[in-house]
Amino acid sequence: MKTINKIADLQSEITQAKAAGKKVGFVPTMGALHAGHLHLVEQCKAENDICVVSIFVNPTQFNNPEDLVKYPRTPETDCELLQSVGCDIVFMPEVAEMYPETDTRVFDFGVLDRVMEGKMRPGHFNGVAQVVSKLFDMVTPDVAYFGEKDFQQVAIIREMVRQLNSPVQIIQVPIVREESGLALSSRNMRLTPQQKEDAVAISRALFASRDLIDEQSVSETAKAVVMAINEVPALETEYFEIVDGDTMQPVSSWDESEYIVGCITVYCGEVRLIDNIIYKNKQ
Ligand code: PAF
Repeated sequence: MKTINKIADLQSEITQAKAAGKKVGFVPTMGALHAGHLHLVEQCKAENDICVVSIFVNPTQFNNPEDLVKYPRTPETDCELLQSVGCDIVFMPEVAEMYPETDTRVFDFGVLDRVMEGKMRPGHFNGVAQVVSKLFDMVTPDVAYFGEKDFQQVAIIREMVRQLNSPVQIIQVPIVREESGLALSSRNMRLTPQQKEDAVAISRALFASRDLIDEQSVSETAKAVVMAINEVPALETEYFEIVDGDTMQPVSSWDESEYIVGCITVYCGEVRLIDNIIYKNKQ
């Protein structure tokens, strides 16, 4: 595995690989890697000739500066893990390398960015689009892999690719969970053992809600999920929205769309956890 910090070195590696006819797969990450990331890397490796992973804690997507400071950073362990799953290139640039000057680009994702994470974290998806578009320009991947846990992020990336006429194929990979049901997240590292146990109530409520949809309306189902989670004293739901999986707009009946997803954010102490459940999936 090659570790690269400079854009020019990355580009020269990629140019050589492409000249040799290799298909390039890419997994962008912010490090603090867990089994969910490794699953993306394994899929990338299996479906491409070269697997590139970036590790970059992107400052422009943090609307809360404290969150940026507290974001876990474990570069040595990350590299060992990536090596163990056959990653070919890990790109770990410094902030000054990625942003030699302030990125002033403003993306417009319309309604996609005005709900849920976009509403709660103004500017977050603009920062995501800034860094992912830069990374796509540098890596020029054929295919890029994103975890479905950040459901709205994948919709935003698809829209960005559409707007930029980017040729990158976006693959959305299902959530990886602990045996307990807790969705894997780098933020789980900040949970105490007790909080980790408490947080299991999130996925439990989401899974249980799948059984409600034949008998209960969208709003009743949403209420039941929020009640079950907020019953746990350590948990506080920030939002739970049942939305169309493409437009991210709330649905009011189960017949309104063929693709319906419940997206949730819950505070467990200071840690903000996100999760989702697909109620109806596209065939
Ligand atoms: O999902 C993440 O880890 C980040 O938002 C991403 C896509 C790597 C951009 O910084």
